[in-house]
Amino acid sequence: MFRGDETSDLEFVKGEGIYLYDKEGNQYIDCEAGTFNLSLGYSNKEVNEAVSKQSEKLTHLTSSHMCKPVVNLAKNLVEISPENLTKVTTKVCGGSTANEGAIKLAQYYNKKTEIISFYRSHVGQTVFMQNVSGNSFRKKPFHFAQADIAHLQYPYCYRCHLNKKYPECNCQCVKEIEDYLNYGSTGSVSSLIIEPIQGNGGNQIPPKEYFQKLKKVCNENSIELIFDEIQTGMGRLGTMFAADYFNVSPNIMTVAKGLGGTGYQVAAILMEEKFNEMEAHFHSFTYGSNVLSCTAGNKTIEIIKRDGFLEHVKEAGNYIMEHLKVFKEKYEFIGDVRGVGLMIGIEVVKDKKSKEPDTQLTNAIVKKAFENKLLLRSSLYGFGNVFKIRPSLNITLEECEIMMNKLDKVLESFIL
Ligand SMILES: Cc1ncc(COP(=O)(O)O)c(C=O)c1O
Repeated sequence: MFRGDETSDLEFVKGEGIYLYDKEGNQYIDCEAGTFNLSLGYSNKEVNEAVSKQSEKLTHLTSSHMCKPVVNLAKNLVEISPENLTKVTTKVCGGSTANEGAIKLAQYYNKKTEIISFYRSHVGQTVFMQNVSGNSFRKKPFHFAQADIAHLQYPYCYRCHLNKKYPECNCQCVKEIEDYLNYGSTGSVSSLIIEPIQGNGGNQIPPKEYFQKLKKVCNENSIELIFDEIQTGMGRLGTMFAADYFNVSPNIMTVAKGLGGTGYQVAAILMEEKFNEMEAHFHSFTYGSNVLSCTAGNKTIEIIKRDGFLEHVKEAGNYIMEHLKVFKEKYEFIGDVRGVGLMIGIEVVKDKKSKEPDTQLTNAIVKKAFENKLLLRSSLYGFGNVFKIRPSLNITLEECEIMMNKLDKVLESFIL
């Protein structure tokens, strides 16, 4: 355990759907789907049954051999992904190693070195991905070699870092990338890795036009566009992937979190055919292509693909957003509410006019919510003044209503 892990004597013993239960039998509502990964909620029966059945036959196989769950997961992933992504590897153990693999694939293919990433991004926590991520606070205590990585501004329309306003800005942040390529880079940029909606960095949703322009710049400069869909993928936006929502095809796409359905550890890299030259031994891990996790992934995909599932995500997301828009009018300290599907963020400010971030109040809201058995998460990224609503995708409308009523009560307690 790390320092701080052991501070609470609260012990959770059971989870079901959006609910968690402690050992005293108290019920908590989880607004964040665990670590944003329980796309089908706690202890999903269908997924668990599939895993349990598989566990009677085969639980592990070295990933140089093949078995049905692994082969099927590759096939299923390709089927639901943008058309250009025809190859896949699941030999990774989570989001960080999927993203590392994506960067290696690009470098192996185009023999270039530099990587473009974004301020406030979270693309992993291995030494390498911590470097690529856009946060200093997690780098400061350590000695990492910061090799060939440029960090640039992510579109943050509510408080643009370039002091522009959309749409008049004409996506100045893409122009900044072009300027970097022309005047700052070595001329050897291999890949650009981006979260299509910046998750930890404050649920930042770029305008759709941004991605059209970004893709064009990448194409013109032979830069491989990597979509980190670890939070946005697997139905979270009411589309299978953010690539579908933004109507843009990345060259490489990574998925993890929601793919495990009810918490199984599974991740994948989807790629265009041209990347398939890299031999597997360059990026494969003991716990990659885990047979039980791949089984969970297959069942999760089957469920998300069912008629009406993604429509429901949109409906539930809209339903929550309608409530949040009312809260935005009601509470002076809510500066912005933004979301697509069930990926929603609430920005807390000192007052609407100044838009000054209020981190202290954000933390107090999260704490108060917890006391009221409502689990919310904020983040240390950026100003730390955005808390998130990202429940399991199969949350019912009644549960959305209960969640919003509870949240309203919590927020009311902060009216002076
Ligand atoms: C967008 C994004 N990318 C990458 C990661 C890293 O994934 P993992 O923790 O599975 O290594 C995360 C984890 O929170 C994430 O949210």
